[in-house]
Amino acid sequence: MSDISEFITNLPKAELHLHIEGSLEPEMMFRLAHRNKINIPFRSVDEVRSAYNFTNLQDFLNIYYAGANVLIEEEDFRDLAVAYFDRAAQDGVTHAEIFFDPQTHTDRGIPFNVVINGLLAGMKEAEEKHSISSKLILCFLRHLDEEEAFKTFRTAEPWFDRIVGVGLDSSEVGHPPSKFARVFAAAGDAGLKRVAHAGEEGPPEYVQQALDILHIDRLDHGNRALENSELTTRLAREAMALTVCPLSNHKLRVVNDLCDHPVDRMLAHGLRATINSDDPAYFGGYIGDNYRAVAKGRNLSREACMTLARNSFLGSFLNDYETMAHLQKLDAFFHKHHEVDL
Ligand code: HPA
Ligand code: ZN
Repeated sequence: MSDISEFITNLPKAELHLHIEGSLEPEMMFRLAHRNKINIPFRSVDEVRSAYNFTNLQDFLNIYYAGANVLIEEEDFRDLAVAYFDRAAQDGVTHAEIFFDPQTHTDRGIPFNVVINGLLAGMKEAEEKHSISSKLILCFLRHLDEEEAFKTFRTAEPWFDRIVGVGLDSSEVGHPPSKFARVFAAAGDAGLKRVAHAGEEGPPEYVQQALDILHIDRLDHGNRALENSELTTRLAREAMALTVCPLSNHKLRVVNDLCDHPVDRMLAHGLRATINSDDPAYFGGYIGDNYRAVAKGRNLSREACMTLARNSFLGSFLNDYETMAHLQKLDAFFHKHHEVDL
């Protein structure tokens, strides 16, 4: 394991499913609470960590939204992004497409420009410091109504050249993709990419809706698509990338045990599965930990890890030229490792 562990750490990879608010570590939560004079209902970092005892999506989301209350100033959002990229750099991440939830902040009176300017500053710093390229995906909270999503969409319009796409997150069951048909159509008309969380807790029909009604370019999670063989075949035929998050799946009981994780089944079905961390501060690990967890649970080979990393670039929103450059670096890395082993 230690051998593949090091291989995984150094494997060049893209992260495609990361909620930046979910990278808020308890230490930073305390620091920002102090800096911004915000009361939090915890006395220590350990107390925060021990509150992370959720076993489903909604219980997690309640804690996750409460944690975000300490984010007030542009500098806070920049610090949050910089901390994520510093950590991602240690895991061989060379490109990241990160989600942010503007409604979580604008509903608390934090202006949209404060959020996005802070994140963009952190992304710029990561490019300079670590040569990590990145893109932003604006997520709509699906437990709110479509009119609220439209308000956010209109507020974001001046930044459309700095946002690669829109996504859909928060409480899945009871909030089907069809609820957001019009705002996703508007996003498509504006030239933005479209992604959606579907088939995490929700049924395969939600994945179908995400494809047919939202016209997604990438599927977030998608685990439950495997319950429908026609849908699985379709996802493979359309080369739809799935952003799979193993430690999140385990923590939120989408899978009971990492030994049962379907990632290799997905690959065997020809699905373009990728590995990601979702909310690393809450689910117990960053992207390298997620690769290692499934590599151990499913006894994955280096070749399988290589396929997952390759899929991450193929499933990204980089242009063909950029994707090719990343794939060449990945191949060079693999061959170097192979020679060492021969
Ligand atoms: N699912 C849905 N919404 C989310 C998640 C998730 O895993 N993380 C942050 N918002
Ligand atoms: Zn997610």
